[in-house]
Amino acid sequence: MSYILKITQHGYVAHMYWGKRIRIPRLSRSLQFFDRGFSPNPDPSDRAFSLDTLPQEYPAYGNTDFRTPAYQVQLENGSTISDLRYKTHRIYKGKPKLEGLPATYVEHENEAETLEIVLEDSVIGLRAMLLYTVYEKWNVITRSVRLENHGSEHIKLLRALSMNVDFSDDQFDFLHLYGAHCRERYIERKPLFVGTQSVESRRGASSHQQNPFIALLRKNADEDHGEVYAFNLVYSGNFLAQVEVDQFHTARVSLGINPFDFTWLLEPGESFQTPEVVMVYSDEGLNGMSQTFHELYRTRLARGVFRDRERPILINNWEATYFDFDEEKILTIAKTASELGIELFVLDDGWFGKRDDDKRSLGDWFVDKRKLPNGLEGLAKRVNETGMQFGLWVEPEMVSVDSELYRKHPDWCLHVPNRPRSEGRNQLVLDYSRKEVCDYMIQVLSDVLASAPISYVKWDMNRHMTEIGSATLPPERQRETAHRYMLGLYRVMDEITSRFPHILFESCSGGGGRFDPGMLYYMPQTWTSDNTDAVSRLKIQYGTSLVYPISSIGAHVSAVPNHQVHRITSLEMRGHVAMSGNFGYELDVTKLLEKEKEEIKNQVEFYKEIRHLVQFGTFYRMLSPFEGNEAAWMVVSKDQSEAFVAYFRVLAEANAPLSLIRLKGLNPKKQYEIMGTGEVYGGDELMYVGLNVPERHGDFVSVIWRLRSVD
Ligand code: GLA
Repeated sequence: MSYILKITQHGYVAHMYWGKRIRIPRLSRSLQFFDRGFSPNPDPSDRAFSLDTLPQEYPAYGNTDFRTPAYQVQLENGSTISDLRYKTHRIYKGKPKLEGLPATYVEHENEAETLEIVLEDSVIGLRAMLLYTVYEKWNVITRSVRLENHGSEHIKLLRALSMNVDFSDDQFDFLHLYGAHCRERYIERKPLFVGTQSVESRRGASSHQQNPFIALLRKNADEDHGEVYAFNLVYSGNFLAQVEVDQFHTARVSLGINPFDFTWLLEPGESFQTPEVVMVYSDEGLNGMSQTFHELYRTRLARGVFRDRERPILINNWEATYFDFDEEKILTIAKTASELGIELFVLDDGWFGKRDDDKRSLGDWFVDKRKLPNGLEGLAKRVNETGMQFGLWVEPEMVSVDSELYRKHPDWCLHVPNRPRSEGRNQLVLDYSRKEVCDYMIQVLSDVLASAPISYVKWDMNRHMTEIGSATLPPERQRETAHRYMLGLYRVMDEITSRFPHILFESCSGGGGRFDPGMLYYMPQTWTSDNTDAVSRLKIQYGTSLVYPISSIGAHVSAVPNHQVHRITSLEMRGHVAMSGNFGYELDVTKLLEKEKEEIKNQVEFYKEIRHLVQFGTFYRMLSPFEGNEAAWMVVSKDQSEAFVAYFRVLAEANAPLSLIRLKGLNPKKQYEIMGTGEVYGGDELMYVGLNVPERHGDFVSVIWRLRSVD
């Protein structure tokens, strides 16, 4: 692709083009200015030039541009006007780290090139360093901004977004992912309208409700064709993503930390780093966009030894026992699961303090000897003896009012003076903006993780922030609390994941409430949703796959009737949905019939054969559960020698039309065997003609195919 900027004669950074690659850019589209009514002129000698009509990269407020600014500052004299102009730039190989923040990275400096543009407001000594990195291999640009106070006064940031792009027209649809707890990442696509359309979070987490992702799609764009411009913020807290269509039908896209309830004081000499935005261009529709995100995030966002390693099939005891377990019960589940071929046992909530329900003990990270008389070590060792690895649930950002920790440190939670502390799930949020709170947690967690052979951690976060304030910040910095919290959290996760590199970490926030690239930088997989119903999961996993790699999408087979929606689906369909992600189980396997155990054994064995493909292959969406009664997707290995295809039908229909699915991503010149049937077809035929979906009766039906090239 090409991305073209221009420094105007006045020193503004203008956005000229982003899209399909231009061989020799000569700027056929030049900047045009007319004398427009009510678009004032910063240069009194030029009645045509106005920032109001200049397509920009990092626009200011207050000097002729009336559209949404990318940043805004307040000075000691109360003024909120600033004016950043070009000072210098440089281009170098590689990609710098962002201090204290997660970001995509390079392994070799030849993989990417970085452009750094320094802008300056010489009146107040404010500098902005715009960072752009382009990857050699992908249609990706990452952007972020560093704001520096080189002046002698305090500068308060009122707004500090990470990027801005001004598109020259508005002929796009706006696509984003929205939802709720147990209903995450549903897809909405609507035409842009004149005015501002935005998605955001004010919850202190990226949230179930909106994801920090938006895309602009050309009207003719679909899964496989057409242009898509996508934006994803590498951040797990409050964000704002917006598109403003102005009077001249240009579209301004901006994304970054939510300016709502945010300010940041820059003392002389201080700087502020914004989080990174990953911008993806695709001219192969949404599948093209997703494949770029998947590859980039799987290989250059996720880190650690598990990045490239096949992930273990796990069993989690949450839906099997909830808080009601003891060592023996856990061991019988583990033993049975091990016999079924499952590789990792995860002990969920309820192992610490006096945690018999969700009313108490968060913060008291010492083992409950009533339930586990031999401690974590004793249990973990016995789980290991069954042939399985041992994993543990923690929720380190929270404190229960009924806990030793809260009694000892009542000011360690987010709160404001003279106001009640609103609880969510009976818990308060620890103040991770405070260094001593983070240091304490690093110590406590390190002790827990070192106390037993622990191979996996599920890191949960089960409420959003209210009464956001910190006991130790001065009044003028109170609105820094939410972002300081994120910086504290990132420091804690960085420290813990580097101290325990052999542990596989999975993030969770009431399921998928913090499914964002910020978390994926520290933890390569996420519990996608607390809703484990196979039918609900079709939409949740389909929507999630728009941005996030399949290896990151935790998906478990659970009991029926399903605990969230009370639906009964077959074990077969539950298996097929879950094995379309990072596979596991979450039910009491000791209560199953022999034939169900047999079926699970087969599922486990099957997944072990295809998991390299599912987790590391190229993913294609085929039929959208948002558009009809069916869903289908497939994964193809990088060398196109193998594929896994899954088809689902929700409700049965009398005398239904025939279903045919056309495969994608195969090599048209290769011959593929449909495993288990002996049938062989060319890749061209499978893609252009398609495969019949065999007749199936009843509701909630699934069919899978495994293909292998036989050339
Ligand atoms: C959250 C998680 C669940 C489970 C419970 C335990 O809701 O998403 O998977 O761990 O907490 O309390």
